Amino acid sequence: MAKKLNVFKGKKSIEKFLNPGEHPMMPLVELPESLNPFAGKRVRIFAKLMTFSPLGNVKSVPAFNMMQALYQRGELDQVENVIENSSGNTVFSLALAALQFGVKNTSSYVPHEISIHKLWMLLFFGVQPIVNKEPSLPDANDPRAGVYKAREKGAQPGWINPGQYNNPDNPAAHEKWTAKQIWKQTKGKINILCAGLGTTGTITGTAKTLKKKNDAINIVGVMREDSSYVPGVRTKGLLELIGFDWEKQVDFIEQVTTEESYSKSMQLSRQGIVVGPSSGFALCGLLNFLQKKVDDDSLEDLRNDDIEITCVFICPDSPVPYLDEYFKYLDTSEFPEIINSDLLENEE
Ligand SMILES: Cc1ncc(COP(=O)(O)O)c(C=O)c1O
Repeated sequence: MAKKLNVFKGKKSIEKFLNPGEHPMMPLVELPESLNPFAGKRVRIFAKLMTFSPLGNVKSVPAFNMMQALYQRGELDQVENVIENSSGNTVFSLALAALQFGVKNTSSYVPHEISIHKLWMLLFFGVQPIVNKEPSLPDANDPRAGVYKAREKGAQPGWINPGQYNNPDNPAAHEKWTAKQIWKQTKGKINILCAGLGTTGTITGTAKTLKKKNDAINIVGVMREDSSYVPGVRTKGLLELIGFDWEKQVDFIEQVTTEESYSKSMQLSRQGIVVGPSSGFALCGLLNFLQKKVDDDSLEDLRNDDIEITCVFICPDSPVPYLDEYFKYLDTSEFPEIINSDLLENEE
C-alpha cells in the first residue's frame, strides 16, 4: 500500500521511508535522440535515476542495507557511534539510517583536501568530520589511511565501522534492489549495463544479479583517468583499496576525464535528466564503448538476437552539491551571459 500511495506513517515512518524496498521503482528514462548519437543504429540508452532513491543519491541504498543488516545481526547492541571513511553521500546516508536503528552519533574520516562545500554538507547533517592527511594512494592496510583508521576506531567498544569498501551488504543492496528493478523495467531485454567505479558496490551487485539472469549482458565499468577529478568515482590506482570482486563482474573498462563528465552532466540536466558529474561520467564511458564497437564493426555482436541494443547507465546523484565545480571545470562559453551583470551587488 505504501508503494502505491507513497505514504510512510506510524512509529517507524522514517525507517520505512529510508528503506528502498518500500518505494516505487526508481525511474528508467530513455535519452532523446539529441543525446544519443547511436539512435540511428537501433541503440537505445536509458538513464537509471538513483536520484529518486530515498535520500536522493545512490549511497542511500547500500547505507540503509548495511545499517539494517548490522541491526538485524545484533551488531548495534551497545553501539553509540558510527565511524566511516567518506567525504560525501555515504556518510550522511549512513548517519540517517543509523539513527533509525538507535545510533545517534556519526563521525567520518575525511581527506585533508576536502572541499568546504562537502564539509558544510557533513556539518549540516550533524556528522562530525575528522580531517586526515591521506597518503596519495590510500591502502586499507596503511595505518595513515582514513579507511584503516576508521576500521581501528570501529573496533573499539561503543563504536562500529560499516566499512563501505568491503562490506558485502553494500553490493548486496544493489543485487536485491537496483538490479531487480532494471531487469523488470527492461523486461529482461538489457544488453549493456554501464556504471562508474567508486566503492564498486553498484556495479558489483547489479552485474551479479543481471548476469545470473543472462550471462550475455555486457558490463562496462568506468574509471577516472589518472589525475582527473570526478566526485564519487576512482582512478585505477585508487581502486586498489576496494575489497569486492568487481574485476570478475566487469567485462570492459573505459576511462573518462573531468571536463567531459561535467559537460555531459550539464547537457543531460538541461534536457530534463537532472544528474551530477558522475552520471555524465558514466554516460561518456558508455558512448566511448559504443563508438569503439562501431569503429571495429562489432556493434552487432552486442545485439544478442534482439532487434535493439538496450543500454542502461547509472546516475548516482544530482548536480546541486557540485554547482560551483561546473564553473571551475567548464568554459564560461558553456553558460548564458548575465545581462546587466554590473548591477550585481554580490560579485566577488
Ligand atoms: C556521486 C557518486 N557517484 C558514483 C559513486 C560510485 O558508486 P559505488 O560506490 O557503488 O561504486 C558514488 C559512491 O560513493 C558517488 O557518491
